[in-house]
Amino acid sequence: MNVLDMFRLDGQVALVTGGAGILGQSIVTGLAEAGAEVITASRSRASGEELANELEKEGLTIHVMTYDQSDHDSIVGLKKQIADEFGRLDIFVNNAVARPMKSYDGSIEDMDLSMRVNATGAIDILREMSALMAEGSGGSIINISSMMGMFGPDLSNYEGTDMGTPPPDYFFHKGGMINLTRYFVRVLAGQNIRVNTVSPGGIFTHQPERFLENYCKKVPLGKLADADDFKGVIVLLASDAGAYINGENILVDGGLWS
Ligand SMILES: NC(=O)c1ccc[n+]([C@@H]2O[C@H](COP(=O)([O-])OP(=O)(O)OC[C@H]3O[C@@H](n4cnc5c(N)ncnc54)[C@H](O)[C@@H]3O)[C@@H](O)[C@H]2O)c1
Repeated sequence: MNVLDMFRLDGQVALVTGGAGILGQSIVTGLAEAGAEVITASRSRASGEELANELEKEGLTIHVMTYDQSDHDSIVGLKKQIADEFGRLDIFVNNAVARPMKSYDGSIEDMDLSMRVNATGAIDILREMSALMAEGSGGSIINISSMMGMFGPDLSNYEGTDMGTPPPDYFFHKGGMINLTRYFVRVLAGQNIRVNTVSPGGIFTHQPERFLENYCKKVPLGKLADADDFKGVIVLLASDAGAYINGENILVDGGLWS
């Protein structure tokens, strides 16, 4: 097969959770540009529809569904809706994140809510969606972690800002996502389902000037990532171009941790 054809996703059904968020939007766009039927799902229908309307202007059609990752019945409902409307699922990008904890000393209630969505919910949706993929012809699961799932926080980045110390829950569940990928690789073996992790570095979202200064001088590429910088690696892992990549964690940080 021609190498560029190997990246095509025509006819593939893809689910991106949190697809209307900062990173999700570019993942949804990249998969749709590669030819997939893309479903974005999060709690808010309005944000999904706003994205769908934007992409429509570029000639891309996406499908909007809702679910709540803190609720098992809601996850099962999403699986059923995908099965009823598409009859299969080929690509699952496990991207949604809840950030109720804002700093080191956030409340236990916020920590519990984070775990419910980002730990329990992430495992729950992986079990449900991988079962749907296995009922078809398999496919590719991409878990979105973070460089913060691989390394401790570099607190010097926050010097001179009022951003505080990053919350501990994030380092726990993002780290867990990387080894959970390896778990699912083994458990799903023989079902033609590949499972990989992408660990992004910081994405530019107009952070405070002092943070940008502190952070960017440490990055060999001299800048934060644009969300679009992740389109390529997602399509690689989703497509036949990545057909033998399984159980990997790909750090995409501009060389920060090299
Ligand atoms: N933004 C960054 O700099 C960055 C860096 C590294 C990794 N990441 C990772 O990228 C992924 C996306 O992050 P983002 O920055 O785009 O986040 P975001 O906050 O912009 O989007 C998160 C999405 O998750 C959805 N969500 C939250 N709680 C939910 C729930 N209970 N049920 C269903 N959906 C829910 C939200 O509605 C939203 O669509 C996350 O896994 C995050 O850890 C982001």
